[in-house]
Amino acid sequence: MKILIINGPNLNLLGRREPGIYGADTFECFLNALREKYTDTEFEYYQSNVEGEIVDRIHLAGYGKHANLNDESAHPNGDKVDGIVLNAGAYTHTSIAIHDAIKAINIPVIEVHISNVHQREEFRHQSYISPAATGIIIGFGLEGYKLAIDGLRSMAK
Ligand code: DQA
Repeated sequence: MKILIINGPNLNLLGRREPGIYGADTFECFLNALREKYTDTEFEYYQSNVEGEIVDRIHLAGYGKHANLNDESAHPNGDKVDGIVLNAGAYTHTSIAIHDAIKAINIPVIEVHISNVHQREEFRHQSYISPAATGIIIGFGLEGYKLAIDGLRSMAK
């Protein structure tokens, strides 16, 4: 099984950014632990601070290289995955484009937030990702990514 983890803006700074909210671990360190724990699962990791790049990566995960229909040398299905764990960061609260990209593919997407966004500022209470996502995990710290992976793995059985 192949799972793609996508982290959105500012999540490249995990471990350094507001550690009281997001914790002191870097995502790279956490990812190594994930790979050791789930030896039968292949993980791809993508982080971007750019909304359109996240949209492109979702297309690629859903359609392989055929997402770009103009590229005839594209290898079909090469980048397709079985499920996506998505923390869209602040784009969660603004991005109709990411909402539409999730709806445009046929693979499960689990929305994850490290912090409990509902205990925070009101502008974090709305998610454009939730109505398009298969499931949502909020407020468990980095552990939430594991819960999302467990969910995807049991859906695939
Ligand atoms: C976040 C919550 C968002 O509101 C915030 O903009 C982030 C991280 C989280 O994981 O708790 O960047 O998605």
